[in-house]
Amino acid sequence: MTTTSNGAIPQTMRAVRIHEYGEADVLQTETIAIPEISEQEVLIKVHAASVNPVDWKVRKGYLDGMLGHQMPLTLGWDVAGEVVSVGAEVSEWKVGDAVYSRPNISRNGAYAQYISVDQKEVALKPTALNWQEAAAVPLAALTAWQVLHDAAQLQAGEKVFIQAGSGGVGAFAIQIAKAAGAYVITSCSTRNVDFVKQLGADEVVDYTQQRFETLKDIDVVFDTLGGESLNNSWKILKDGGRLVSIVDVPDETVAAEHRVKSHFVFVEPNREQLDAIAALIDDNKIQVLIDRVFALEDVKEAHALSETGRAKGKIVLSVD
Ligand SMILES: NC(=O)c1ccc[n+]([C@@H]2O[C@H](COP(=O)([O-])OP(=O)(O)OC[C@H]3O[C@@H](n4cnc5c(N)ncnc54)[C@H](OP(=O)(O)O)[C@@H]3O)[C@@H](O)[C@H]2O)c1
Repeated sequence: MTTTSNGAIPQTMRAVRIHEYGEADVLQTETIAIPEISEQEVLIKVHAASVNPVDWKVRKGYLDGMLGHQMPLTLGWDVAGEVVSVGAEVSEWKVGDAVYSRPNISRNGAYAQYISVDQKEVALKPTALNWQEAAAVPLAALTAWQVLHDAAQLQAGEKVFIQAGSGGVGAFAIQIAKAAGAYVITSCSTRNVDFVKQLGADEVVDYTQQRFETLKDIDVVFDTLGGESLNNSWKILKDGGRLVSIVDVPDETVAAEHRVKSHFVFVEPNREQLDAIAALIDDNKIQVLIDRVFALEDVKEAHALSETGRAKGKIVLSVD
């Protein structure tokens, strides 16, 4: 049996979907049926979603065949909202809970008024944050967490170099690495130097003035750029160092030649890690930085900003 909120849940909702891959004009705001929930799922009334680069990469078909998507597809895999209905086997969530989630990317996303999410992918929203701030957290912060803690196993006192510290992932990575006791070096352009210092960076490489390849004896490189930046990262690592990329798969043979380890991370939903991140946020150890908030209907503009590759912090869609 499903438990539902007293407030009536409508039959239909607004959602932004694509029916084919392409430029931003394939994003269509439509009225569709509210998703059904299985016994293990909760229905969340979405208050805010966020825009991540993966959204426009999916939209353009760059990940075609990799994630099991079917058209039409609702984009957006970051959500903050309120539980309005729970499946028969859901015991930990109840109607009215304020939650956030990075839901399964193989399924329909959160550019919509409602989303169904597996109960294991949901966590309580940090109490210090409003809906828009909370929606900005899950995907980017989980990525930073899984790179720094799971893949790199970053230790207190180690030196980590984080590429693009002013971006969605980088801004969380700086703060998560500092909370772990690491020495943080990050890169950005001149206009963002003060911003990343304010987030806790100990040293900043302004890439308009200095090449990051001049760094040396780094324990962990967090590559958020891929390509040439990844290829030039090996030589800045010390023996036994770790290179983790979230953009390109590093070559293990080259890693072995440099006596380092390498990893590729594709972020996964994780409730326990969302709880740990929420605790750091509520303890004032992590700030959430938003570049701009757009209305759901203005999603094309939000994608255009993300596609510039110059957003400062996160881009959010308000869904109320
Ligand atoms: N594998 C995964 O699970 C996963 C998860 C999340 C993200 N990603 C990928 O990781 C990448 C970063 O994601 P994101 O959300 O952080 O992107 P983002 O928010 O769009 O990053 C924008 C930031 O990148 C900085 N930047 C641009 N070029 C730079 C350069 N050459 N050197 C240093 N900084 C530079 C910009 O700073 P300036 O304006 O100062 O240049 C800007 O603040 C994307 O390709 C995304 O798809 C992968």
